[in-house]
Amino acid sequence: MRTVYVAGSLNIDQRIQVQSLPRAGETVIGDSLVLAPGGKGGNQAVAAARSGAQVTFVGAVGDDEHGRLILQALAEAEIDSAAVLVDPGTPTGTAVIPVDEHGENAIIVCPGANRSLTAAHVEESLGAVRPGDVLVLQLEVPVATVRRAARTARAKGAFVILNAAPAPTSVERLFDDVDLLVVNEHELAVVGRLSGATAEELADRTLELAGATGTAVICTAGAGGAFAAAHGTVQHVPAPSVAAVDTTGAGDTFVGYLAAALLAAPSDLAGALAAATAAAARAVTRPGAMESIPFARDLNASG
Ligand code: RIB
Repeated sequence: MRTVYVAGSLNIDQRIQVQSLPRAGETVIGDSLVLAPGGKGGNQAVAAARSGAQVTFVGAVGDDEHGRLILQALAEAEIDSAAVLVDPGTPTGTAVIPVDEHGENAIIVCPGANRSLTAAHVEESLGAVRPGDVLVLQLEVPVATVRRAARTARAKGAFVILNAAPAPTSVERLFDDVDLLVVNEHELAVVGRLSGATAEELADRTLELAGATGTAVICTAGAGGAFAAAHGTVQHVPAPSVAAVDTTGAGDTFVGYLAAALLAAPSDLAGALAAATAAAARAVTRPGAMESIPFARDLNASG
């Protein structure tokens, strides 16, 4: 059966509800603290699984309670996690996420065991990749690991999606084996040194980045929807209007649903964008990252 492989980060999210995000030097009092499994890699894998795909995860956790909580969450999502390393020498990754009353967040990631994910381990773990499989990558694990994973999977005929999040400090050789690059507006500005405010500007900048990288590019713009550039043209997919509670993990939901849709129908980018946009819009109506990811059956039930 064709598979979505996700090689990437696993964190325990410490989500703190605040009235407003602290500015530099400011102390604010939070209303509540919730611990939950997350990490961009973990969230994207769960999103792909909840949309109905078979998913295999390659990553690393520490030999601790947080690592076990994450492995349990992957198991509950029926994700194959046999290739998740348990590193006894390093704590599981952690993310501290204050969320304000408008649903906006700021994220600090302390990578911990995510740094233990080596290029050699991903290469070995991707040994069973077949033509038609999809590999999803992000940038919360070492960049050398990301590059090796892309090269390994591409050589085996897989379709490689890189979500360039968080924005990288260097893009050297990062896109060599990537078929589809997914960025948000901030990452577009860093990765491509291309910024835009209006929809028209974002569309143009997305097309420019596709030309510069030689990959298809999708730029997600939150309530502004998404812009997708491929084969010299760009299309805009509007986002449904929703009341946002927490935007954390919406981008991951988008990427996971997109990957699953492209696994099922590789040439239907428009259909994949529609599914990803609808799922991400639903995710922002609920608190948390991994907890907020909808199941395909929920989306289908409400149209
Ligand atoms: O994209 C949201 C995710 O970013 C959180 O789950 C957090 O762990 C960080 O990786």
